[in-house]
Amino acid sequence: MDPESRFLVAVTGASGVLYARRLIEILGPRTDVILTKDAAPVIEIETGLSTKEFAGPANILYRGEDLAAAPASGSHRFRALVVVPCSGTTVAKIAAGIADNLVTRAAAVALKERRPLVLVPRETPLSAIVLENLLKLARLGVVVLPASPGFYGGPRRIEDLVDFVVARILDQLGVEHSIGVRWTGPPE
Ligand SMILES: Cc1cc2nc3c(=O)[nH]c(=O)nc-3n(C[C@H](O)[C@H](O)[C@H](O)COP(=O)(O)O)c2cc1C
Repeated sequence: MDPESRFLVAVTGASGVLYARRLIEILGPRTDVILTKDAAPVIEIETGLSTKEFAGPANILYRGEDLAAAPASGSHRFRALVVVPCSGTTVAKIAAGIADNLVTRAAAVALKERRPLVLVPRETPLSAIVLENLLKLARLGVVVLPASPGFYGGPRRIEDLVDFVVARILDQLGVEHSIGVRWTGPPE
């Protein structure tokens, strides 16, 4: 599949890597994955998987330290970049224009090339610094999609909560899917 039709999924060292894992599972070889250095221990802690296993269904796995990799250049095309979960550190760097690893560089490319950028921040509570950074990015057209699942579908398992958020990400990417729940109005 040509790079133009692939999605970049970037995983940082925030909690909630299961959201990324599920997204990669659904998008499969349509995905190129980038992991920051600090994502690896969180992946190990929260899933017990190696980084290779974690990114298994993806087309390519890039290391965040690899600033010479294709997504570092605007000449490399991709459909959209999703940073999931997105740490406060990565939010701050993107908002400040700091492109010091492959994730923050790909985000800088997405901004300068006006390509879709979806951030899934995971932190609670949020400081005014993070809120200001997110507001700045939202005003630039970035989609800020907090990892905050709704409960109106009656979730029973962790997977249901994960699917709720991943469904909203897929909606943003314009990818057809049948996961999660959609509100159809109050029960009769
Ligand atoms: C188990 C674990 C969970 C973490 N969860 C979060 C989190 O939910 N949100 C966050 O902003 N940082 C979290 N951190 C801290 C980040 O990993 C740290 O700020 C790191 O520098 C982020 O760098 P990165 O964005 O380049 O991956 C967590 C760290 C660990 C070890």
